[in-house]
Amino acid sequence: MKIELKDLSMQFDDVLAVDRLNVTIREGELVSLLGPSGCGKSTTLFMLAGLYKPSSGDLYFGEKRVNDVEPENREIGMVFQNYALYPHMTVLKNIMFPLKMSKVPKQEAQERAIKMAKLVHIEHLLDRKPGQLSGGQQQRVAIARALVKEPKLLLLDEPLSNLDARLRLEMREEIRRIQQEVGITTIFVTHDQEEAMSISDKVLLMKDGQYQQYSAPQHMYDKPSNMFVGTFMGSPPINMIPVLYSQESNSIQMNETESTLSLGQQIHSSYGPNMILGIRPEDFVLVEDNATEDVLTARVTVVERIGRDTMLNATIGDKHIRVLIEPDVPVQQGDIVKLGVRPNRYHLFDKETGRNVLLENA
Ligand SMILES: Nc1ncnc2c1ncn2[C@@H]1O[C@H](COP(=O)(O)OP(=O)(O)O)[C@@H](O)[C@H]1O
Ligand SMILES: [Mg+2]
Repeated sequence: MKIELKDLSMQFDDVLAVDRLNVTIREGELVSLLGPSGCGKSTTLFMLAGLYKPSSGDLYFGEKRVNDVEPENREIGMVFQNYALYPHMTVLKNIMFPLKMSKVPKQEAQERAIKMAKLVHIEHLLDRKPGQLSGGQQQRVAIARALVKEPKLLLLDEPLSNLDARLRLEMREEIRRIQQEVGITTIFVTHDQEEAMSISDKVLLMKDGQYQQYSAPQHMYDKPSNMFVGTFMGSPPINMIPVLYSQESNSIQMNETESTLSLGQQIHSSYGPNMILGIRPEDFVLVEDNATEDVLTARVTVVERIGRDTMLNATIGDKHIRVLIEPDVPVQQGDIVKLGVRPNRYHLFDKETGRNVLLENA
């Protein structure tokens, strides 16, 4: 089922929790709602579920406007952070519960519940009570229960945040597998950018109730529309370096240093001269000592060897940066290094507005 949010807003007394969202989610997609705590993710999900009525704007499921459709008539399944299983019921009874409420005959309800239990790999736990299950197993039961009525839309609100790191990793892969097996349109709320990146077809990134960017995860990482998106996506985070842009030479200069970079692309003349250069730690390259053009000179302050690669903490002028390099390069604390930037792997943001000026120009 296709989902459309049109100018969707939610105002609580003095808080505008969701501010005119416009998003289309295609049938069968898994979309993550991503953003820091308090940015309006749950509020958006609750409007989709029908638990909150939007203050303004419209919500469409397929061609149908559902603003006034009651939650129980929206054909949705929902899973929350705290699994909210019924503690006195067995796993089987928990999964059967939604079918019992809609008066599905017992025999059929049981068969459908067992089929769901198999889908989420808990068919061996049907007689247990929730208290006898691990967190991951409980979350599987909650997913089976959400899917047993064969809803058209699955809503998940931070379903993994009560699990420990390893289980979180396992369960996010499981959610993706289950979603793809069932083919159900799914909206997954998380504040964890890596989680969103790893399982989504598309990510909707929000801040203060407002749309920031809606795109495939890799695209959001590679082409952030503004400084907030650039900083939110990626760990260790992108380096943001204040620079001065010169229209004349079409180059940028690090504040208070000799380091300059020439740009391949002309910037729109309404911008500048104060800009922020964004470079992800993995997008630097170490270059020859005698290189003079398009290199940044940095002083290494700390070398962290972290298995797969090595992280340099360094300074350019008085600006601290992080640089990921190959594990076996013999760089030491105190070294002066010359850094180049991989082609087309830098971002330039307007200091005033935060907008990515390279994208606007393209
Ligand atoms: N029922 C409510 N009444 C008043 N304010 C609320 C209510 N629910 C959420 N808010 C406020 O709306 C904003 C968004 O909240 P929420 O959607 O829960 O954020 P998120 O899920 O992204 O952490 C926050 O400022 C929050 O305090
Ligand atoms: Mg929330």
